[in-house]
Amino acid sequence: MARTLKSTTIDGTIVRYIDAGDPASPEVLVLVHAFPMGTAMWEPQLDAFPGWRVIAPALPGFDGSGTPGPRKDPPSASDIDGYADQVIALLEALHIRRPVIGGLSMGGYVIFGIIRRAPDAASALILADTRTTPDSGERLAARHRTIEIARSAGPRGIANDMLPKLVSARTRERKPEVVTELRRLIEAQSGETIAEATRVMMTRPESTALLRGVRVPVLIIVGEDDVITTVADAEQMRSQLADVTVVRIPGAGHMSNLEDPAAFNEAVGEFLGRFGGP
Ligand code: MLT
Repeated sequence: MARTLKSTTIDGTIVRYIDAGDPASPEVLVLVHAFPMGTAMWEPQLDAFPGWRVIAPALPGFDGSGTPGPRKDPPSASDIDGYADQVIALLEALHIRRPVIGGLSMGGYVIFGIIRRAPDAASALILADTRTTPDSGERLAARHRTIEIARSAGPRGIANDMLPKLVSARTRERKPEVVTELRRLIEAQSGETIAEATRVMMTRPESTALLRGVRVPVLIIVGEDDVITTVADAEQMRSQLADVTVVRIPGAGHMSNLEDPAAFNEAVGEFLGRFGGP
């Protein structure tokens, strides 16, 4: 059953989000979604952590969230730090202080923006299937192609283009329902939102050195068969961090939280156990 999203208006922009788990709990886990799908990708995680409230914000344009104007401080057209600002503003609006913040892939890129914009915003971080390096060379050329497909063929064209890379061969063979679900999640977004998020991702800055300043515990999760953000990317992040745990999920690709929710949730549950809950 699809979740009902809540919404709030921040500086004239609608921000939508899922508010799940234990609503009265002071222990909050924030989960930032990947590209090009919205908050529903977190369905297997939303009620998986007893004693934790789980907030999943919809980034600008996704799931009916509005797109704020250019960032004012410092001035910028919409960029990854503008996405981060919207998550920070949502947490302020909900009076949530220093939650555990997790993100998968683009969600990780947004977390790097949160570290830049509000270094003390999180009490711990979960970086799943993501990487700190920016796009260059072939990846930049592929981004231009993605924008073209999003505009000409819409979310269906994007799903056709991306699905072969999003999950492992094992998931495709043994859990075809995950591929069906991912198609549904992608086709629920608009081509214009997908094109804009692609532009935002392709202009994101290098964030590797940023991790050296992170003083909170970090959990890195990576699907061993992830071809978009690889085990090598996870290892590069690990090398920059002081208090870090890395969990590799065998047989999973890029969408590790959907491909093997049991393994993903076990890793997150153990990590959260360090901070609170029952
Ligand atoms: C994602 O899953 O968020 C995207 O694949 C990230 C990317 O394309 O860099």
